[in-house]
This record gives sequence, structure tokens and C-alpha cells, in this order.
Amino acid sequence: MISRRLKIIRKKWYTDNIFGLEFNYPGLRPLPGQFLQIQVDEGVDPFLNRPISIASYKRARLLMVIKVVGRGTKMLSAKERGDQVTLFGPFGRKFRPKKKKSLLIAGGIGVAPLHFLAEYFCKHSVNFDMIYGVRTNRDFILRKDLEQMADNTIWVAEKGYRRAGTVVSVVKKIDLTDYEIAYTCGPKEMLIALQKLDMPIPVYAFCEDFLGCGCGLCLGCAIMYRGEYKRICVDGPILELGGIDFEV
Ligand SMILES: Cc1cc2nc3c(=O)[nH]c(=O)nc-3n(C[C@H](O)[C@H](O)[C@H](O)COP(=O)(O)OP(=O)(O)OC[C@H]3O[C@@H](n4cnc5c(N)ncnc54)[C@H](O)[C@@H]3O)c2cc1C
Ligand code: FES
Repeated sequence: MISRRLKIIRKKWYTDNIFGLEFNYPGLRPLPGQFLQIQVDEGVDPFLNRPISIASYKRARLLMVIKVVGRGTKMLSAKERGDQVTLFGPFGRKFRPKKKKSLLIAGGIGVAPLHFLAEYFCKHSVNFDMIYGVRTNRDFILRKDLEQMADNTIWVAEKGYRRAGTVVSVVKKIDLTDYEIAYTCGPKEMLIALQKLDMPIPVYAFCEDFLGCGCGLCLGCAIMYRGEYKRICVDGPILELGGIDFEV
């Protein structure tokens, strides 16, 4: 397993509970969907590293965007520019996105790995549109970047924004035959609602469930997929949405 102790070269707060950490990490060569495990602190408390997606990787500059939800992410949010952090990985299978007209559907912090997918599409000249939904208009992040990269974008918020609703309500209204494939990342409830729409194109989900070891050993991340257990950390995190059994 590769581990690197790296200095934070930039820290930015995007909202009151979402921040970004940037590192100089030459030679990483990640693929969309891959993630790193961040050691929250030196020592053994908290014991488990926290999985965070690669949100951007350009000219050896790695960006990870983190939402504070609990103790580990709160402790990470206290790190500042110049502090050192240990990163393990990259983890996740090597998934090569198809060069097909794509629709990206992001919910909340799920925008982070889709931002890196958008970078990948720009680099490989793949056309794509993006739908990005959040709770309130203050929760949008990386918006300017995404607008520059996508052909068309639809932003939607449950409250306080001119387009009110969710990504699911938007997907219901658009003509999906304009696309050959879709990719989505967001809260589990959003993935379940999208699955129920039974979209007429293949939809790949970036699964961000609980992880333990992050490297295939503990089975803590097992998910029922097409009738058998798969480990999100090594068989995913990108899996075809229709094959996931969210009930098990
Ligand atoms: C492959 C992968 C990629 C991820 N990428 C990102 C990312 O780019 N940015 C980001 O902010 N987060 C990402 N996450 C989620 C992130 O790992 C968790 O939010 C984090 O580990 C929580 O740690 P904590 O100690 O702060 O929270 P804990 O104290 O462990 O939990 C606090 C609360 O958050 C909930 N929670 C914990 N982990 C998750 C999870 N994985 N999904 C949903 N709810 C959770 C718990 O139910 C609890 O209510 C990713 C997860 C995976 C598996
Ligand atoms: S997190 Fe341990 S097997 Fe996936």
C-alpha cells in the first residue's frame, strides 16, 4: 500500500461546513472514482482512516473536498496550510469511463468525485451535461469550474434558489435519450430515488458508504450487487446503479 506524508499547500472553506485541502502529489495518476484514505491524526485515535475522493488532480496538484459530518472530518477541518497529513492509496478499482455523451448527476458533497470525472472528460474530449442539487443556495461548491467544463448545467436547490427541487425532480423532466450514459454520486436516498426511475440508459453510481480498512480485507464495506456481495473499496466505488440492492 502506498502512503505519503504530504504538506497541505492550500486550505479553503467553500461553505460553513465544506472545506478543500490541496497537496502537491507528483506521480499519483488517479482515475475517476478512486479515493484516498486520510489519516485523521497521528497515533491510533481515531483508529480508522477516512476515505475521501479525488476531486481534482492537475499538474500534480491534488484537491480533496471534505464535508464536516462527524469527529474525523471535524479534526481534519482543524488542519491548516503547512500541516502534514498522511494519505494512503489510491484505492478503488481502475474504472475507465466510456467516451460517450454523458449526464452527471451530483447531490451535495457527491459533487467532489464528479468534479474529477468532469476534468477527465474535458481531457478526453467527452461531451457531458451536469445536474447538481443541494439543500440551499449556499451549499453549491466548485460551481464556476463545473460551468466551464460541462456543455450544459442545471443547478437546483431544495430551498432559497430560483430553481427549486431535487436532482430527481429534474431528471424526471429531461429527455434522457439525449445521453448514452449517466454517472451519479450523492446521498443514499438520492441513489435509491434515481434507481426507482429506471432510466433508459446505463447509470453508474459512485458509492460512498461506510468503509473500514479501505483495502479489501475487513469486508466492512460489503454491498449486495447483482446477487453477490461486493466490496465497495476494491470492486467499487463505481457500480452500475441498477445492480445495487440497497435493502440488504
Ligand atoms: C469511497 C468514498 C469516497 C468518499 N469521498 C468523500 C469526499 O470526497 N468528501 C467527503 O466529504 N466525504 C467523502 N466520503 C464520506 C466520508 O468518508 C465520511 O463522511 C467520513 O468518513 C465521516 O467521518 P467522520 O469521522 O467525520 O464521521 P463519523 O463520526 O464516522 O460519522 C458522523 C456521521 O456521518 C455519517 N457518515 C459517516 N461516514 C459516512 C459515509 N461514508 N456516508 C454517509 N454518511 C456517513 C454517520 O452516519 C454519522 O451520522 C467518502 C466515502 C467513501 C466511502
Ligand atoms: S473497507 Fe475493508 S473490505 Fe472494504
